[in-house]
Amino acid sequence: MKNYVRFEFPSVPENVSFARSCVGAFAAQLDCTLEEIEEIKLVVSEAVSNSIIHGYKNQPHGKVLVMATILDDRIMEIMIEDNGIGIADIKQAMEPSFSSDPSRMGLGFTFMKSFMDELEVVSQPGEGTNIKLKRCFLVKDKEALA
Ligand SMILES: Nc1ncnc2c1ncn2[C@@H]1O[C@H](COP(=O)(O)OP(=O)(O)OP(=O)(O)O)[C@@H](O)[C@H]1O
Ligand SMILES: [Mg+2]
Repeated sequence: MKNYVRFEFPSVPENVSFARSCVGAFAAQLDCTLEEIEEIKLVVSEAVSNSIIHGYKNQPHGKVLVMATILDDRIMEIMIEDNGIGIADIKQAMEPSFSSDPSRMGLGFTFMKSFMDELEVVSQPGEGTNIKLKRCFLVKDKEALA
């Protein structure tokens, strides 16, 4: 582990953009492009929104924990955890276009899967949800390897 940031906040919607910007700023020290940082920010906002909207049903008194870790210059791990209602059927929740709310697109997990190299979901109904995301950035400058 080279560096990490860990922070917790109540489940109010204003904190989605805070968490997104915070992890984006932290990711700036990685050897990656601005576009890749935008992807990291997107997955963080999807996961944090899920905790607030689904985990805590938009109630403001829940706690969301975010931890981002840089393992070396090219590997980042992000963990988002809530103690909300949890997910009964994780496989179904991760299917593209599945949502328990008919007004939503059901694409949050699909974005997380497509922009990250690894996605792990641990969840128990009544206990909460823990999402681990991992992304490895390719070495772009081949000369740097020489
Ligand atoms: N932290 C969470 N706590 C409880 N349920 C969750 C959590 N995250 C996801 N879910 C469940 O998984 C489903 C799929 O999540 P996903 O993010 O893919 O879609 P969505 O949030 O419903 O829609 P969108 O992300 O497109 O607005 C949700 O509808 C919800 O039922
Ligand atoms: Mg979602």
